Amino acid sequence: MGKGEGRDETAATVHRTTVGPIVEGGPVAWRADHATAFFHQHLVVRPGERVAEPGCGTGVLSLFCARAGAATVVGTDLDPVALAAARQNAVANGLADRVEFREGSLLEPVTGPLDLVVALLPHRPAPRPINPRLYGGPDGTDLLLAVIVQAAARLVAGGRLVLYLNSIANPRRVLAAFGQTFAVRRLAGKPRPFTREEFDALTPGLFDHLVAQKARGEAEFTEDGPVPAFTADLYEGTRR
Ligand SMILES: C[S@@+](CC[C@H](N)C(=O)[O-])C[C@H]1O[C@@H](n2cnc3c(N)ncnc32)[C@H](O)[C@@H]1O
Repeated sequence: MGKGEGRDETAATVHRTTVGPIVEGGPVAWRADHATAFFHQHLVVRPGERVAEPGCGTGVLSLFCARAGAATVVGTDLDPVALAAARQNAVANGLADRVEFREGSLLEPVTGPLDLVVALLPHRPAPRPINPRLYGGPDGTDLLLAVIVQAAARLVAGGRLVLYLNSIANPRRVLAAFGQTFAVRRLAGKPRPFTREEFDALTPGLFDHLVAQKARGEAEFTEDGPVPAFTADLYEGTRR
């Protein structure tokens, strides 16, 4: 069964977070998942920060930041379905005066200096272009490298970019670029087992694509357990 299949499209999801419950409506296939939960479990927002979330989807991380005390939050997305849900979720959570959702690419719709950028962006590698809500270019890095450059230009000195990165998406390349303008540390990581069947059902040919990427040093995953496993990591970069 795929994400959202067979679930009640009208029932809201309630996310239990460190800053209280966040109610999420919107089409089930657009909703936040385990990666979003992992992200907010480890995310610290300082009161008064000016925050942006490129690729906000239905807005759960943006709403988390507002509830955690951010002064302003702007979420962006290319997808009007996601943005409509995000705006409704801001109202439903009583945060519409503190969070704004704008249509556009990454940080392009955001004006003014920023203290914090949170980015859980599509970065699945694939042998050919797939759904842009999921795909990050052949090695997965397209949007991650772009957001590092944009965030470096927009964050104040000492400001932070918190980035979610699966180790199948060329982590050496991403971390090398991240380290050029940020002091980077790993906040958290967890293993993510996967199988050929699971990944080829997501994108035909994905498993062999990743094996070839790994052989070139462009993906990292272990194959010594019962099934392969990559790591899902959260990195924090502080703007130098
Ligand atoms: C994996 S979802 C994550 C959503 C949200 N950050 C969360 O944690 O629930 C990625 C989102 O990025 C959006 N997206 C893809 N490319 C984008 C771009 N260039 N600029 C802004 N958003 C983009 C997709 O439409 C999708 O809603």
